[in-house]
Amino acid sequence: QRLELELDSIEKGGYEHFMLKEIFEQPRSILDSMRGRLELGGSHLNMAGFRAYEQKFVNAQRIIIVACGTSWHAGLVAEYLIEDLARIPVEVEYASEFRYRNPVISERDIVIAISQSGETADTLAALELAKSKGATIFGICNVVGSSIARATDAGAYTHAGPEIGVASTKAFTAQVTVLTLLAMCIGQRRGTITDVKLRELVTELHNIPTKVEKALKLDAEIQQIAETFKDVPNFLYLGRGYNFPVALEGALKLKEISYIHAEGYPAAEMKHGPIALIDENMPVVVIATKDSSYEKVVSNIQEVKARKGRIIAVVTEGDTTIPAMAEFVIEVPPTSEVLVPLVSVIPLQLLSYHIAVLRGCNVDQPRNLAKSVTVE
Ligand code: G6P
Repeated sequence: QRLELELDSIEKGGYEHFMLKEIFEQPRSILDSMRGRLELGGSHLNMAGFRAYEQKFVNAQRIIIVACGTSWHAGLVAEYLIEDLARIPVEVEYASEFRYRNPVISERDIVIAISQSGETADTLAALELAKSKGATIFGICNVVGSSIARATDAGAYTHAGPEIGVASTKAFTAQVTVLTLLAMCIGQRRGTITDVKLRELVTELHNIPTKVEKALKLDAEIQQIAETFKDVPNFLYLGRGYNFPVALEGALKLKEISYIHAEGYPAAEMKHGPIALIDENMPVVVIATKDSSYEKVVSNIQEVKARKGRIIAVVTEGDTTIPAMAEFVIEVPPTSEVLVPLVSVIPLQLLSYHIAVLRGCNVDQPRNLAKSVTVE
């Protein structure tokens, strides 16, 4: 039995749970997902799967992304990325809805299927449907040789390494990294992104692992915040722009492993409903990094504060405005607006992890959930 325990601890690399190990692996897994695909200082991008279908991407009239769960959130980030950098309209679909609603698909559409396991039944069925209508299918999978990877025309693996914790962490950041590279490739080929901007992004992508490393240093601080909120029944997560999908992902992480009810919302939608929930007992996590919607998010924070909501804000290092308004402030390093989810999601992963541990939950294998959902 001692041997078993020792083996278990070796597998977890000395961490108490796989989830924590995987959260801390992210500087490395993000690097692995970019490895060989871009060169420092240059603007040459190398994605083999993209190259073979370059023309299809250049001429695509629309990109449809199908996925489930956390992968769907990565898809939402990709919607911002691809529309921003490559100027192709993007729709992000729950695979389970898409497959049953008689969707309009043409041969000039590209469908991107995102899946960590590569085995999710709904995602597989959605891409098979799109394929039968003549669309080109591009896969973003983590598991090599998985069913979805095999069913696609081309794709790019995320190379995040095996993810054991049921709640996805490093697979998400790897998906976002690969989708960023893909958006850059398409933008470059379509001429919608300047060489200067491209080089800037390449340089900043290289800095991301170090910035994630820095965000991970917030662990002890976040554990303290978790202590304060471990017994609450509800949480609200707000973000705008690139941080809107991050808000959804933060809320999903918390629900999945701590069983606390949490909702993610685009910050400006708060006034159309969730604001009614805010009182002195409601913790509101606001992702408010310095970007183009910063000022607007600051007003959203004021609205929460006016109703006595308890604000936990994720801000950019050096912010002096929000700390004066929030009960807790988590500072992350600055980065380019389009890359911000890779950094801002880290404290949210840690927050849900610590809350779940403090509540005595089984973080690696939460009740009722499966790592790969091969039934519909
Ligand atoms: C399950 C997992 C989630 C995952 C989702 C999609 O619900 O518990 O963590 O995000 O399936 O899985 P996939 O393997 O397709 O990314």
